[in-house]
Amino acid sequence: MPAPHDRRVAALASHVSPPGLPGLAPNPTSTPRVTDRVGGFTVAVLGAAGGIGQPLSLLLKQNTLVAALNLYDVANVAGVAADISHVNTPAHVRGFAGPAQLGAALAGADLVVIPAGVPRKPGMTRDDLFAVNAGIVSTLVDACATHCPRAIVNVISNPVNSTVPIAAEVLKRRGCFDPRKLLGVTHLDVVRARTFVAEAKGLDPAGVDVPVVGGHAGATILPLLSQTRPFPRDGFTPEEVAFLTNRIQNGGTEVVEAKAGAGSATLSMAAAAAQFADACLRGLAGARGVVECAFTLHAPTFGNVLKGDKDAPAFFASKVQLGRHGVERHLGIGRLDAGEKRGLEIAKKELAASVAKGVAFVADAEKAASSAERGARDAGRRDARAAAGTFHAAGPA
Ligand code: NAD
Ligand code: LMR
Repeated sequence: MPAPHDRRVAALASHVSPPGLPGLAPNPTSTPRVTDRVGGFTVAVLGAAGGIGQPLSLLLKQNTLVAALNLYDVANVAGVAADISHVNTPAHVRGFAGPAQLGAALAGADLVVIPAGVPRKPGMTRDDLFAVNAGIVSTLVDACATHCPRAIVNVISNPVNSTVPIAAEVLKRRGCFDPRKLLGVTHLDVVRARTFVAEAKGLDPAGVDVPVVGGHAGATILPLLSQTRPFPRDGFTPEEVAFLTNRIQNGGTEVVEAKAGAGSATLSMAAAAAQFADACLRGLAGARGVVECAFTLHAPTFGNVLKGDKDAPAFFASKVQLGRHGVERHLGIGRLDAGEKRGLEIAKKELAASVAKGVAFVADAEKAASSAERGARDAGRRDARAAAGTFHAAGPA
């Protein structure tokens, strides 16, 4: 009979060491209750111990559509999982630490949310994160292809304008790319637009909607103030349009500078990601009329977001209707006013370059991997020939 202290440690460890993984003792107290809940979904958060990951996981624990919450990180996830698991809601929380447990974290996932990766510091652009985050996202999405190829994937890691194309290229190579199921999370731009417009016009932010289309970096973030609903009775002055557009486009930088080196938006992002994940889950559950803005593939094979525009970048954020298989329908970008049209032209060029950068990253990684494989094969052949030569030179014993 283990001592009470040992039992306590074993119970805590069960949150980071799910039963059945190699080298980990099964814990009878941690039987998942997933099957008890009709319609409950399994959600995996990759990067769950981070600045976004922790509050996002806490919010997901409180989502009644979530039956199982799998928290994965390369560091510090045991405490986060143990802590969140004490919240008195039905979702069953388990922690998964390090690459050896990534497959178990993803097995059976309906929705995978990825906030893994490094954040900006003052003076950096989101693209400056590419060098580190491209590899992180491609590795994690590759694991999704192996362990949950039909899951919906929400990519938060920056630069979203490139990490989503990277994810698509990885999934294509693994033969499981479904454009309905890969969504870049740009919802924070919508959350900011709702808040800033409501502040400026004295409205309730919960009742305002402002579509934000394009992408998720600087000038690619294109708020469509002309489509604000309800549209303010006194409209927007040119000064208000300039101020609001600039503030929405630079909301991320506002937070990065205020945090002065301690990271970027985490709490508002967690709120935005939790709202967006909830929309995806409601869609999966069959709810009707679930509409959000998201960064998805549309051209040339999917949707009608910029129908007939031959310069349209392959990935673009716009309003989409979510359903049982992810994106059911692209709802287009509606009618733009003159200023928004000018913004769209700028956004399109920058987006096309960011998408191409993501696509090239995966192609280059593939070339490097196959040349390394060829090198290893050639070296193996040379060694075999050398061994055979030695044998002939020495002659049989
Ligand atoms: P953070 O550094 O606080 O947390 C990142 C977490 O990812 C850490 O816990 C780290 O251990 C983990 N991690 C690193 N490599 C990993 C891997 N290979 N597998 C699993 N986990 C791994 O950063 P943060 O503030 O949470 O931001 C995370 C990312 O989200 C950044 O790239 C940031 O730019 C981006 N972000 C995007 C938006 C958006 O609107 N889409 C908003 C805010 C932040
Ligand atoms: C944001 O918009 O807050 C995020 O993309 C983080 C950042 O680097 O600005």
